[in-house]
Amino acid sequence: MQHVTVFGGSGFIGRHLVEHLARAGASVRSAARHSLATAKPLRLARIQHGAADILDDAAVQAAIQGADTVINLVGILSQAQRQTFTAIHEDGARRVAVSARRLGVRQLVHVSALGASPTAPALADRSKAAGEEAVRTAFPDATIIRPSLVYGPGDHFFNGFAAQARRLPALPLIGGGQTRFQPVYIEDVVAGFGAILASSASCGMTYEFGGPRVYTFKELLEFVCATVSARPLLVALPFWAAEVLGGLLQVFPSAPLTRDQVRLLRTDKVVSGSEPTLADLGVEAKALETIVPGYLAVHGRRA
Ligand SMILES: NC(=O)c1ccc[n+]([C@@H]2O[C@H](COP(=O)([O-])OP(=O)(O)OC[C@H]3O[C@@H](n4cnc5c(N)ncnc54)[C@H](OP(=O)(O)O)[C@@H]3O)[C@@H](O)[C@H]2O)c1
Repeated sequence: MQHVTVFGGSGFIGRHLVEHLARAGASVRSAARHSLATAKPLRLARIQHGAADILDDAAVQAAIQGADTVINLVGILSQAQRQTFTAIHEDGARRVAVSARRLGVRQLVHVSALGASPTAPALADRSKAAGEEAVRTAFPDATIIRPSLVYGPGDHFFNGFAAQARRLPALPLIGGGQTRFQPVYIEDVVAGFGAILASSASCGMTYEFGGPRVYTFKELLEFVCATVSARPLLVALPFWAAEVLGGLLQVFPSAPLTRDQVRLLRTDKVVSGSEPTLADLGVEAKALETIVPGYLAVHGRRA
């Protein structure tokens, strides 16, 4: 039986992945800062939820002990106290990779993001690039995955904008809404993980995961609004103005927008064509038009 430790197993991608791995027969240790209060009884046998902060050496080692496979999904979109981009995306990624190597882990899968680059405008993207480099140095055979926007039940993007579209009279189109995304379905992402874990051929590789089509941010917002029958005004906001707004809002806890989040939108999140993709893993990515309306129904439907 495969013993897998998933750091970030309580998050959006993590919850889907942990369940898939357990159903496929693996014994899964899901680790995050907060251990889950409830776990469904049927799955308890193969899924163990525990607390392990990736900023803590001893906790990371304890979570990896006995695992043959480690997956690191830990990532943040805004900084707070000790949870800085550098601490989480670079130092935390290095800590997991170093411990995995030291403890004899066979396979390490590290999740980065499309847009990761040492020259990216956003610190989040630069820290993701530094994390990739730290992982490659500590564990050269690691597999790195860079997803575009991931969607599915419980996602952040479509659910978040659906709720806002229903509630607010207007939504900003940052940078005119021209940033390009290639949204990828969570079940396709999970299938990609499955293929990676099933074969050593993926060791040392970097994969870029995107869906079958590229959309602008504006097209995605229009799609969400039409799906939930909401008609907020979509107001173009230049990047500079959005950065000023993000700079003001980010002083509040749980800020709806930060300056770095605006900077993330300055670069497209689409596959580059120079790295292998889901298709190379035998996964045919599905179109979002057939999937998203099903789980956005809770927000209201097209009349
Ligand atoms: N979702 C997307 O569209 C998307 C796109 C591209 C890349 N990615 C990347 O994919 C990964 C997973 O994304 P997601 O959407 O599933 O994120 P998420 O829902 O925000 O989950 C993040 C996970 O990390 C855990 N975490 C945060 N700080 C931690 C710490 N110090 N120690 C241990 N665990 C910690 C969180 O649990 P606690 O808060 O309890 O610790 C949670 O389990 C991230 O690296 C993200 O950058 C996601």
